Formats: sequence, structure tokens, C-alpha cells
Amino acid sequence: MKVVYTKNELKQEIQKVKKSEKTIGFVPTMGYLHQGHLSLVEIAKKETDYVVVSIFVNPKQFNSQEDLEKYPRDLQRDLELLKKENIDLVFAPSETEIYSEEPKLMMDIPELTNKLCGKFRPNHFQGVLLIVNKLFHLVKPDKAYFGKKDYQQYLIIKRMVEDLNMDISIVGCPLVREENGLAMSSRNVRLSDKEKEDALLIYRSLQIAKQEFLKGEKNSEVLREIIKDIIETGKNNKVEYVEIVDPETLESQKVAKSKNMIAVAVYTGNVRLIDNIEL
Ligand code: PAF
Repeated sequence: MKVVYTKNELKQEIQKVKKSEKTIGFVPTMGYLHQGHLSLVEIAKKETDYVVVSIFVNPKQFNSQEDLEKYPRDLQRDLELLKKENIDLVFAPSETEIYSEEPKLMMDIPELTNKLCGKFRPNHFQGVLLIVNKLFHLVKPDKAYFGKKDYQQYLIIKRMVEDLNMDISIVGCPLVREENGLAMSSRNVRLSDKEKEDALLIYRSLQIAKQEFLKGEKNSEVLREIIKDIIETGKNNKVEYVEIVDPETLESQKVAKSKNMIAVAVYTGNVRLIDNIEL
């Protein structure tokens, strides 16, 4: 496994791979890797010849300085995990390497970015679009892998690739949970033991709402209240939003239908967690 830190080193490696006509699979990450990331790597290894993982905590997608500062980082630990996965290349640039100049380009897909998380995290998805676009131009992947825990991000990137006729196939990969049901996230390490217990209510509430839906409850307002009430029995939990949406448009649905998605964002203590379930 080779590790490169600069755009030039990366370009040289990618040129060699392109000459060899191998297909490139790309897993962009912000590091502090967990089983969710490694599951993306596993799928990329199966589907492509040469796997690149990027590790870069992108400041442009954080709308809170505190969240950016507290975002967990441990490059050595990440590199050890990736070495075991036997991937080909890691790109771990510094902030100045990526943003040597303040970017002037603004990217947006308002129809998708102004819903769900976008309502509460101004400029977050614009920052994601910019960095993913930059990384795609550098890595030139054939396929790129995104977890469906960040379902809105996956949909937005898919749309960007379609709108820009980029020759990259975007692969949405299943959300991975800890044994207790908590959706895997790099932020989970910031939860205390008590907060972790409260965070388990998130997935539990989604499961209960799904059962109610399957038993016949189709009123979204009722389902959303069930979820909010269960989550907020946890003293450390504060629901930011619960929405039942169409999985293609992210439009809120008054009447819940099969294949709709319930998406939630919750503050457990001061850690923001998201989760979702398909009805
Ligand atoms: O999902 C993430 O970790 C980030 O949003 C991504 C896609 C690596 C862009 O910084």
C-alpha cells in the first residue's frame, strides 16, 4: 500500500494506473475509519482492480468550528487499518495542499441540498460537492463508493455526476450498524457511555415506527411523533428533525408509502447523529 500526501504524487500514481488500463475504485473518507468505511473498501476491492482511499477532514463542509475541531483524527491508526485491507493507494493531503487558494467555485443542487440535513447545516453539502468534485478530478475513478447512512450525500453526489456527465459510477453501499444497532459513525467515539445508551433509542424508534407502518399506520405526522417521543425519552437526546421522504426527491410525504425513507438527525449530548430506515 502506497501513501501519498501531495496532488503531484497522486497524479503520477494515477497516470501509471490509467496506462495499465486497470479500473480504479475510490473511497473518499474523512478518516477515523470504522467498519462502515471498511465495508466500502471491501466492495471496492471486489468490483475494481485498483483501490484508492482518501483521508481528508474537509473544513468547507463543517458549519461549526467546534465540530471541526472535535472531529476525531488518527492517521497512523487509519493507515494500519487500510494496510490490513491490502488496498493500493492512500491520499492523505493537508488542508493547504487541497485549498492552496480560496476556491471561487460554488456548487449547489438546491432541490436536494435545501432539505433534511441541509436545512440545519448551511453550506455543508456545497462543501461536500466541492471536495468530492476536486477529488474525482484528481483520482479519476471508474467507481466511487458512498455509505447510505449519509443517504442525502449519496443522492446529491449521484446527481452531480449525472448533471456533469462525469464518467464515474456512484455505488451506494448499505448502512453498517454496531451490534447494538447504533449506526456506525466516526463521531460515535465522542459519546460517553450514558450518551451511547441514549443514542440506541434512535434506531429502536425507527424500528418501532416501521412496525407501526407495517401494521397499518400511514399518517406521517403520527409516525414522526412516535419516533420523536421514543428518542427524547433519552435525557441526552434532542431531535433535530424526523422526516418521511421520497427516496429520489427527498420531498416530505404526508402519507407514508412503502419504500419511503424515514430520516432522522439527533443531538445526543453535543454529538450530532443521523440515521435512516426504508419503509
Ligand atoms: O462522507 C464523508 O466522509 C465526507 O462527506 C466525504 C464524502 C469524504 C467528503 O468530505
